[in-house]
Amino acid sequence: MFGKKKPVPQIDKDQMELIENAQRRIKQKKRLFAHFVIFLIGAVFLIILNIVLGIGENTKFFEMDWFVFAILAWLFLFLYHLFSVFVTDRFMGKKWEQQQLDKLVAKQNERIAQLEKSVETTQPKPVQPTSAEEKKTSIVNGLTLIVAAGENDAIGKNNQLIWHLSDDLKRFKSLTSGHCIIMGRKTFESFPKPLPNRTHIVITRQSNYQVPNGVIVVNNLNDALDAAKGDQQPFVIGGGEIYKQAMPFASKIEMTRVHESFDADTFFPKIDSDIWTEIDKTFHSKDAVHKYSFSFITYIRT
Ligand SMILES: NC(=O)c1ccc[n+]([C@@H]2O[C@H](COP(=O)([O-])OP(=O)(O)OC[C@H]3O[C@@H](n4cnc5c(N)ncnc54)[C@H](OP(=O)(O)O)[C@@H]3O)[C@@H](O)[C@H]2O)c1
Repeated sequence: MFGKKKPVPQIDKDQMELIENAQRRIKQKKRLFAHFVIFLIGAVFLIILNIVLGIGENTKFFEMDWFVFAILAWLFLFLYHLFSVFVTDRFMGKKWEQQQLDKLVAKQNERIAQLEKSVETTQPKPVQPTSAEEKKTSIVNGLTLIVAAGENDAIGKNNQLIWHLSDDLKRFKSLTSGHCIIMGRKTFESFPKPLPNRTHIVITRQSNYQVPNGVIVVNNLNDALDAAKGDQQPFVIGGGEIYKQAMPFASKIEMTRVHESFDADTFFPKIDSDIWTEIDKTFHSKDAVHKYSFSFITYIRT
């Protein structure tokens, strides 16, 4: 159980083949060298036999001492051996080198492909989220935008509302009473005084903004959302700048669509029908106290 682990060979098949070929080549050259040494010794031995010891003194081939003939014949054999090692039997020659190179290139390409794949899986390419996905990640449950907008999305001019629709104000009051209402500094300043029975959260970049008692001042939207955390349904009540920033966080829109286009300097952002679904709509016609017809429309995030 705790015995030595069997060594796992780290050399792959191609590398093994390379090593075996190199070993064969070394052996081939060693054999040639050994042949050369034996040939030299043999030649000297033959000369001694013939000249010193006088063996076969009178034996001649083509008028040459037999040892000369024997040495020449052996030399021929050696040259043939040499030729085969360096020319005809050169199994690690140019062709072989090209084959090895091709194998190496193929192997490297394979490794590059594997590495690319592993980089893709460990570090997935950043996917650009669709606007719907992006917004879903930051939704604050219950956060509701409440707005009255003309057909052209107009919501105000010169820091004032453009119309007076009493039933709309009643609805605004009934929906927002008892809740937090988040607003931009300009909208807050458009009220003569804070609205009763609601927690005002005013967003401003000013560090020393003075407000009446009970009004909460924050310096960004996130802090406003934090301040409203205890409320199940905080309302963003405007104006244009704050609606635009809060829309990606909202889960509901309570819209009063005033059926008229208005000259304005402040607008509600476009409602994207891919993100928002209309779930309720009530039409209110114009009458003696309502100069324009309008519809109460509720949207929820799809
Ligand atoms: N029809 C409707 O339902 C409705 C509802 C509400 C308002 N309105 C109208 O809308 C108009 C006002 O809208 P508006 O867009 O001009 O102004 P706004 O949104 O009410 O307030 C803008 C101010 O909010 C502060 N602010 C904005 N973004 C901020 C951030 N990221 N961090 C810190 N502070 C930030 C800044 O205050 P500082 O300048 O102090 O830094 C900025 O000047 C008025 O005409 C009003 O009558 C209409």
